[in-house]
Parts: sequence; structure tokens; C-alpha cells
Amino acid sequence: GPGRPHPSPRPTFKNVLPNNRDEVSVPEGYDHHVIVRWGDPVLPDAPEFDFENQTAEAQAKQFGYNCDYVGFFTLDDERGLLWVNHEYTNEELMFAGYSGGAEADLEWIRVAMAAHGGSIVELERVDGTGQWRLVTEGERPFNRRITADTPFRIAGPAAGHELLRTEADPEGVLARGTINNCAGGMTPWGTVLSGEENFHQYFVGAPDNEATSRYGLSTGYSGRRWDRVDERFDLARHPNEVNRFGYIVEIDPHDPDSTPVKRTMLGRFKHEGANVNLTEDGRVAAYMGDDERFDYIYKFVSDKKYVEGSHKHNMTLLDTGTLYVARLEGNSPAEEIDGTGALPSDGEFDGTGEWLPLCSDTESFVEGFSVAEVLIHTRLAADKVGATKMDRPEDFEPSPVTGKVYCALTNNSAREPGQADEPNPRGPNKYGHILEIIEDGADSAATTFSWIVPIVCGDPEDDSTYYAGFDKSKVMPISAPDNLTFDKHGNLWISTDGQPGSLGMNDSLHVVPVEGRFRGELRTFATVPVEAETCGPLVTKDQKTVFLAPQHPGENGTAEEPTSLWPDGDFPRPSVVCAWHKGGRDVGT
Ligand code: FEO
Ligand code: CA
Ligand code: CA
Ligand code: CA
Repeated sequence: GPGRPHPSPRPTFKNVLPNNRDEVSVPEGYDHHVIVRWGDPVLPDAPEFDFENQTAEAQAKQFGYNCDYVGFFTLDDERGLLWVNHEYTNEELMFAGYSGGAEADLEWIRVAMAAHGGSIVELERVDGTGQWRLVTEGERPFNRRITADTPFRIAGPAAGHELLRTEADPEGVLARGTINNCAGGMTPWGTVLSGEENFHQYFVGAPDNEATSRYGLSTGYSGRRWDRVDERFDLARHPNEVNRFGYIVEIDPHDPDSTPVKRTMLGRFKHEGANVNLTEDGRVAAYMGDDERFDYIYKFVSDKKYVEGSHKHNMTLLDTGTLYVARLEGNSPAEEIDGTGALPSDGEFDGTGEWLPLCSDTESFVEGFSVAEVLIHTRLAADKVGATKMDRPEDFEPSPVTGKVYCALTNNSAREPGQADEPNPRGPNKYGHILEIIEDGADSAATTFSWIVPIVCGDPEDDSTYYAGFDKSKVMPISAPDNLTFDKHGNLWISTDGQPGSLGMNDSLHVVPVEGRFRGELRTFATVPVEAETCGPLVTKDQKTVFLAPQHPGENGTAEEPTSLWPDGDFPRPSVVCAWHKGGRDVGT
């Protein structure tokens, strides 16, 4: 609550300067190490990676493609479990001669499906330092692959609803697979939450209706053509299959035999991820973004309290409670928000907001929608209540130090100048911005809040940018903020996805204090290889390590003509990296 200490020490590491190098760069005094790459064995019986002869059977035991969110659970001081989302695949980089799903070798399609989902791998600390490496010998009992085929229990109020029933699952309670897992979070009870984001792109033949159109489903063919190997991706034949994707999924990395779960109570949309915070009375709030231009930010609040040590109970927390969507009001006159990013006369883009309830687990608050319909067609329900259309809400993360909550709004090329409002003050919004939410009473259960835009991204020499009032001659450029995390001091880490296109420099990882006199002094901790997005990031609890995950290195190239050769100099491989200070200092300080 208010009055809790927030030391936010000023980071003083030397900035990594903008560049276009095909490598990971970290500040002077730091080192980094590639922990695990696409194709590396995950299960003890996995074969070594063979780029020329890929099979789905091998891939389902090996590290998947396009690593995104990274979670880390220490087992003891020397060992830990790394969870990694595998968001999607770049087939043109994975397979020589690939020319689209319609023509593709069917085994390649199966490989791509097996390269989705997530991985759990055991790591060990190297010589008491902040360096971690992959355990490659022994039983590794926790190591696991989750793919587009893994059974998932469907839980929460929509489970069993007729919109979720299919020929293969007439009860509507057991889905197969998770796809397009983007960002995520760790719960206090030791599980991972992972967001199914752009699930629409895997389906073909959608019926033409309000719901399919609001979720961007194609009535024609998709590029991937998974329907060629698994007919459930053909909605003309299995129209409800798509209703079983677009959820927050929960995985227990400590129990390798557990069935992962889709949590319908947290709604269905292009879930970026979910991050939880405890309310003042010990319940759980989950903050979530729907990553689409002009879409919404959401919050779930449980009705039950978190009970430390009671795992079985805690695994039910996300099934009952209330789902909300946000409405934000600016406090400056509308005519002062002209779309250029010029600050209004009160000197801040700020205001107040309300969490509008959509449904509880037993009651719908949206006319014409049942509880299950709110949870399955969440976007349609949220459209009815006057939620605020945001600039692509990405990761949404509470500070563990202050409880304030931060959302990355990555960009919105489609916002017209006349559509600019105080929470989304630029039109078009080429570079994105950060939103800070302060719940009333510093309680994540609150239904009202105040908010401010502390950072309007871009080149600091561009007049449309703002760094919380900090001297812009002393900050670094940033664009396309995406994944967020906090360190133990309460400094915000921001990774980017799109700086090559918007600022002509590789994507990067930044650190910025959000409290005190250095609020807004944004520094650059790392840059990633050519055409890679910076994913992860995660700072360990002891703050000796930061994990980052360069996703889709060389994504504009092909297997024949690669534009990146990271990390090994032969072909690009999405990989997870750790970075640490060689003198043992806390990272990012
Ligand atoms: Fe997969 Fe919204 O980034
Ligand atoms: Ca204002
Ligand atoms: Ca993301
Ligand atoms: Ca992204």
C-alpha cells in the first residue's frame, strides 16, 4: 500500500548504444551466455537437432521456436526451472525451400505445430555467479514440452458450454494444445500464466458472423494451413474449435504430470499475458491486455483468497471472481489533445478510470450475454459497455514494490489525429507509450483508479516524446514497448518489438526508474540481433541474472538467404540468453 518504501536506486550502468549488429550486446562489465536454442534437446531422450532432417517427433522433444515470455522458478540456490513460451514459427527460416502452407511438405507443418507451445528446462548456476546453463545430463524430471497437441483442461464458468463442444470433445472440457503464447507471468503459488494471442491465424474457413469478424478470423485460407494435417483447424467442419483458444493458460512447472488448464474466467481475446497482484485482503487480481489496435485492457479479481502453501486451493483461484474492462477519462480539455503528443496545459497526460464489470462467475453484467458468452465472446461484451480503445495493449505488470501497474501500448498506426485522446495521445502512434495505473487505495481490488502516461516513446529528440519530465538529452531512444518486468528495486524493464522498422535500430532492453527524482531516466541495458524482437525479460529474485529471449532473429530473411546468423554463425535460432555482472553486482544497477 501507500507508504511502502520504494528505493528505486538510479541505474548507472553504461548504456548499450543503438546498433544494427547481429549479436546480443550488454553493458561494459557484464557478460552473457546463450542458454538454450531452438532444437536443443529438452526431454532426456530427445535427439540432437538436425536442421536438414527435421521431424515432428524430434521437435516435440526439443526446444521450440520463437521464444517469448520467460519464467524462472528456483529449486534451490544452484538449480532452477525455466519456462519459455514458444509463440509462433517462421517456416521460411526453418525449412529450406518453404513456399507457403498450401504447398508445404506435411511433415513441416507438423514440425511447426510441435515447435509451438512452451518448454520447461532445468538450469544450473555456474560457479556461484549470475550465469545459468542448461542441464544436459541426468534425469531432468521436470523437463517438459507443451505443444499444439498437448491436452488442456478447460476450467471456469464457460467450461462445458455448447460453444466449446466439438466432435472430438462433446463435453467441451478438454482442449488440445496452446498456440501463439506471447507474454505471461508467474503466480505466488508457483505456476505460469501464458497468453494465447494471435490464435486466429491458425484457422481456415471461418463462418462469416459478428464474432468471427471481431476476432479477425478468415473465411478463406491462412498461410500456415494446419488444416492440411489436422482438420480441427478447418472451421467449416469444426466451427467451435476456435472458441477453445484465446485464453490465459496455467501451467504448473513443478508437477510434470499435471494437465495444464485454460482459465475461461479470464476471458477470451488476443491475450498478451496476465500478471497477478494480491489485493489488500489477500485475493488475486490479474491484469491483462488485448493486443489489437483499439482494443482494451482488462482485470480479473478473484473472490477467494490466496492461501500460502495450499496449492490445491490456489489452483482454483482463477475460476471464480469478476472480470472487468477499463474505461479511462482524461482530465484535460479534449481540444488540448491534438494528436501530436504536445502536452496539455496541466502538463500531463493523466486522468481517472473505472473498471467496468463484465461478469462474475455466476452473473453477467452485459445485456444480452450469458456468463459463458461474456467469457467466450469477451470482445463483443466489452464493446457494449464503453471501454476505452487503446493502442495495442501488450504486457501489463504490477510493480512488486509500489503496487502501481504498468501497461505497454506498443503502437497504433491506424489512430487518426482526431482519434487521439489523453490515454492514447498521439495519432498516428508510431512509437508507442507506457501507461501507469494507480488503483484507488493502492488496492488491486479497487474499481476506480487514476492513471498517467509517464513515457511517450520515440527518439528523445522528437518533440512528441516524453520521459516523465526527465531531461531528454540524458535518455535513450525507445520504440514499440512490448514485454515488461520489474526488478526487486522497483525499476521497470521494457523490451521492444519493432525498433528496426520505426527507429532503424535493433530491438533492445531498457531499464527505467518509475519513482523518485530519476523517474523517466531510461537507459539501454541490451540490444538483440538483426530483425529479432527482445523477449523475456526476467530479472531473478536475487537480481544477479537477467534472462532475455531474442525472438525471430533474421525474420525478414529465408533459410536460403538468411539476414541473421545468430547465435552460431550458420542459421538463425531463437534462443534464451542470460546476462550477469562479472563483478557480481545486481543487474541493471
Ligand atoms: Fe506477441 Fe502482443 O506481442
Ligand atoms: Ca491532463
Ligand atoms: Ca509481446
Ligand atoms: Ca509483440
